[in-house]
Amino acid sequence: VGEENADYLVSLIRTTPGFPKEGINFRDFMPVLADPRGLSILIDALAKALPVSVDDFDLIAGMESRGFLIGVPLALRLGKGFVAVRKAGKLPPPTKKVEYSLEYGTAAIEVEDDAIKPGDRVLIVDDLIATGGTAGAARTLIEEHGATVAGYSFVMELTGIPTPPDLAAYKRSSLVTMP
Ligand code: PRP
Ligand code: ADE
Repeated sequence: VGEENADYLVSLIRTTPGFPKEGINFRDFMPVLADPRGLSILIDALAKALPVSVDDFDLIAGMESRGFLIGVPLALRLGKGFVAVRKAGKLPPPTKKVEYSLEYGTAAIEVEDDAIKPGDRVLIVDDLIATGGTAGAARTLIEEHGATVAGYSFVMELTGIPTPPDLAAYKRSSLVTMP
């Protein structure tokens, strides 16, 4: 990212202690998107910090909803297609669904059956990794389609929360780490 650009991104991330519940330090990257320079630095940095070569994946999967906001501009920049990994109940059948737990609750995600083909190599993008529950569930979904996870791109990685050991087998990049 470059130190100056990383500092600029971090300066735009808004932290709210106690949201959405006690003990959670909520990290909000919406002000980065609202800022023209921040938005430009963000998408450039994600494109430069890919965890794998641009030739090593076929499409980008973005996690609802914050992952959509970066997944589409990144896919456009890299000449890839975009697949929406949605919260359960939003997509028409046939879909595949996986349940998982979050730092502050539980959730389920879905992908349309024909959105990902067997053999596709998929880069998963999201704003943030905390417990890694969402990242793991997305991997399960993609693998249920007969596709493979090429890697993960995050904007933020929260330290001090253990992620599942099996995630370590996958390449990932994060622009900034914070507690
Ligand atoms: C947030 C965030 C990640 C996920 C990370 O999404 O955008 O997707 O939590 O947490 P984890 O690593 O502990 O799984 P959330 O489900 O709150 O949905 P949103 O993007 O629609 O706000
Ligand atoms: N998703 C999971 N944990 C989060 C946090 N601390 N801030 C923002 N989004 C999150």
